[in-house]
Amino acid sequence: MKMNELQLKPETPTQPGMATPVAIIGAGDIFPAYAAGLAQFGTLRLVGVADARPEAAAAQAQALGLPALSVDELLAGEAQIVINLTPPQAHRAVGEAVLKAGKHLYTEKPLAGSFADGAELMELATALGLRIGCAPDTFLGGAGQLARSLVDAGQLGRIVAGQATMMERGPDDWHPNPGFFYRPGAGPLMDMGVYYLTQLVQLLGPITRVKGMAHTSWPIRQIPRGPRQGESIQVETPTHLVAGLEFEQGAFITLSTSFDVWKHKSSHLELYGERGSLVLPDPNQFGGVLESCEADGDWQAHAPQSFTGRHRGLGVADMAEALRSGRQHRANGEMALHVLEAMDAVLRAAEKNAPVSLRTRCARPDPVNPGFAEALQFKSSPKQEQRA
Ligand SMILES: NC(=O)c1ccc[n+]([C@@H]2O[C@H](COP(=O)([O-])OP(=O)(O)OC[C@H]3O[C@@H](n4cnc5c(N)ncnc54)[C@H](O)[C@@H]3O)[C@@H](O)[C@H]2O)c1
Repeated sequence: MKMNELQLKPETPTQPGMATPVAIIGAGDIFPAYAAGLAQFGTLRLVGVADARPEAAAAQAQALGLPALSVDELLAGEAQIVINLTPPQAHRAVGEAVLKAGKHLYTEKPLAGSFADGAELMELATALGLRIGCAPDTFLGGAGQLARSLVDAGQLGRIVAGQATMMERGPDDWHPNPGFFYRPGAGPLMDMGVYYLTQLVQLLGPITRVKGMAHTSWPIRQIPRGPRQGESIQVETPTHLVAGLEFEQGAFITLSTSFDVWKHKSSHLELYGERGSLVLPDPNQFGGVLESCEADGDWQAHAPQSFTGRHRGLGVADMAEALRSGRQHRANGEMALHVLEAMDAVLRAAEKNAPVSLRTRCARPDPVNPGFAEALQFKSSPKQEQRA
């Protein structure tokens, strides 16, 4: 699916010279991280927040001195980009409403709860000449971009294989309302594997075929602490998945995602090239140290210098700048749809015990260029530069 010409025409913010107005639907757990992240960019102006629970919007808005709006008021307002921070199961409906209101959409991951829903959202955006941006944007951070430059520099040779591991005990003990993580559209693959797959696609390009195995170790889970302590969650999507991913450039990568594991000692992401190896830090963070080696030489550490802290919303800032300058934004719907198809396909491959070939492909997003931080009017602060 290609962006049409209309979508790549430069746009100016409502008031020339002013920052791009953005608004948020969804005032839940991740909202404060976005509010803080967006405030780092002089090119963005947060103009309002709405939530299906007006009291949630009011509480978050009050803390920031923002207007709390109804969803209808927000959609009728001045925002050019609306950020969707609702749970995955609401991404399609909220995303459709945003697009039908004539706003560009930036949504939390995954793009939608299923590939079919994601594809329809993208078709609607294309028909309306609007853009979709989608988290994760962590690949735009210092670690992801340093990995990109190391892979593209060619010293490791072509990447032929790799492994990715996201295994933990699930969000039951820290999220105030963890039920949605165990419904279709979430689970460890769609909720967390999405960071690993997006990183891999920006580094290696599109995936062509997947295999999958899926398993649910505990069909009912008890919330151990927090406001819902003792409540049961009925698990409706697999909580332990192992995937084989074949990339168009030839690499074969294994990916394990789980909400059923207390501890492990595997690294997050490793890539094996014809002439060397690369170990990446957690792709759910913007920073972290990388290690590489050539052939059987010693490991060398590489520490990124910029965008290494808490920068959720970096993808929104890039999208706003792309709208102004008429270029493709990096955390874009085309890549998000491809990653969503890959995740959906792993689940189907597991169900039918057969490989699934993908229909979509996407271009690798452009690496960030020198002057990126200046173009976004990024205001670095030591607090934000701590680990996300
Ligand atoms: N919590 C995190 O640490 C985290 C981290 C990264 C990404 N995310 C992503 O952010 C999104 C939101 O996660 P969260 O943890 O903030 O969830 P949450 O349940 O804490 O908050 C979601 C909010 O959306 C509101 N909402 C639900 N449906 C709505 C609708 N149709 N219209 C308007 N409001 C609606 C709910 O009332 C709630 O306040 C998810 O896609 C999640 O994957 C969360």
